Amino acid sequence: MGTERITIFDTTLRDGEQSPGCSMNLDEKLLMARQLEALGVDVIEAGFPVSSDDDFAAVQAIARACRKPIIAALCRTIPKDIDRAWEALQEAARPRIHTFLATSDIHLAHKLKKTRAEAIEMIREGVGRAKSLCPDVEFSAEDATRSDWDYLVEVFTVAIQAGATVLNVPDTVGYTVPEEYSKLIHFLRERVPGIEGVTISVHCHNDLGLAVANSLSAVAAGARQVECTVNGIGERAGNAALEEVVMALSVRRDTMPFATGVNQEAIYRTSQTLVNITGIEVQPNKAIVGKNAFAHESGIHQHGMLSHRSTYEIMTPESVGVRQTHLVLGKHSGRHALAKRFEELGYPLGRSELDKAYKLFTKLSDQKKEIFDEDLLAIVRDGLTHIPETFKLRALQATAGTAMFATALVTLASEEGGEVTETAMGDGPVNAVFAAVDKLTGLKGRLLDFRIHAVTGGADAVGEVFVQVEFDGVTQGGKGASTDIVEASLRAYLNATNKVLFARRGTVPALVESKH
Ligand code: KIV
Ligand code: ZN
Repeated sequence: MGTERITIFDTTLRDGEQSPGCSMNLDEKLLMARQLEALGVDVIEAGFPVSSDDDFAAVQAIARACRKPIIAALCRTIPKDIDRAWEALQEAARPRIHTFLATSDIHLAHKLKKTRAEAIEMIREGVGRAKSLCPDVEFSAEDATRSDWDYLVEVFTVAIQAGATVLNVPDTVGYTVPEEYSKLIHFLRERVPGIEGVTISVHCHNDLGLAVANSLSAVAAGARQVECTVNGIGERAGNAALEEVVMALSVRRDTMPFATGVNQEAIYRTSQTLVNITGIEVQPNKAIVGKNAFAHESGIHQHGMLSHRSTYEIMTPESVGVRQTHLVLGKHSGRHALAKRFEELGYPLGRSELDKAYKLFTKLSDQKKEIFDEDLLAIVRDGLTHIPETFKLRALQATAGTAMFATALVTLASEEGGEVTETAMGDGPVNAVFAAVDKLTGLKGRLLDFRIHAVTGGADAVGEVFVQVEFDGVTQGGKGASTDIVEASLRAYLNATNKVLFARRGTVPALVESKH
């Protein structure tokens, strides 16, 4: 059996980012995009440029930084959207305009208030305009799986005539089932003139838990591009999980003779990069990347595993980059070893980035004996992103106990120079620390979400805190890491504070220095 290539189209930074709690700033998107490039995805959908200036800036920055994959920008089929997407893609080595219009009667009547004929004209004009700007044009018929099949034939015929090179058949609301989806792909292949000359793409949402099964069934029926997200994040119940699609194709190549360009050993690291950025943990029993995905608990299973791993293991943890020990570096490791490890992790650092990372690394190795990959990823994420620190932590002292109010004394250095100190009381040390910070900055934050997790194991583990804080109606996320969880909380809160102050200056964060 020959092995055909499946294009992996990653939309973590677009559809994935639309899920609650998953929004990322420019530096974070750039970090994730670089990791996706190291993972070997074929297409990175970097954003929806017309939707906001931040999205525009992210697409532009990713197009500059990631030269290997195709960079796609999403737009509706309306001229200002298409032009804005193209503007954002100007510096891409391999640009793609991805334009979409809903085609189901439900969407046409209630959302677009258009007739089928009017929608056809919008598609003809929109795809045609995109094609006049960019040779690579993808057209998506939003809500395709609830659209009339004969109408879809008309829609895709027009899209091909207008120059589309990829036709996407999204299951926007996660409604279809494998057999039906497969029949739809076969139907389109039989009826749409010229379809053999373009790539059929699938894009499945997971409302019924069928996104991956539907995607694979479409591949068997002739689709050759799968749209997916890391950890399956995305609107509502999410999108098809990239790691599941890739590993299903790999492990069951006997029944599905298809290859992808994904470097499987980078899968776990990529999943962790996303967790580190968003603070959204993966469920423990999640296939491939969950904490328990390779854990064998019952005695019978453990016994079987000890006799032969193949008794209960269909793939090894190492094959997706899960290593039993992540120990990488210690106090005496030098700059060279650090640079090499960062490179292996998918972050080739420039000289000044490495200087900064090395400083943070030596500081951390004074606090904890063993430095793990996850610690290094935290350094990249927290230390190398350039949100100017209007306020910087200088000193912290907090007390708490069962028979007393918690108190905090915080000293911050301000950008203008000088240090200021305040004290505050609270329900607990974290609450007291936040109150002291508010007094110092003059802002009043309302804590909406607070999450903490240990980055690595052991009593000296780095604790990582994610907060969501509302300042005057504006919600901002913040992250901080330290071996002391009160300090990590303070750093996270201060990070959110500095972001909101920066946003008020009307600028977007500076880019992480790139080698490219
Ligand atoms: O789910 C969907 O239909 C989409 C399209 C924009 C491709 O995300
Ligand atoms: Zn979608």
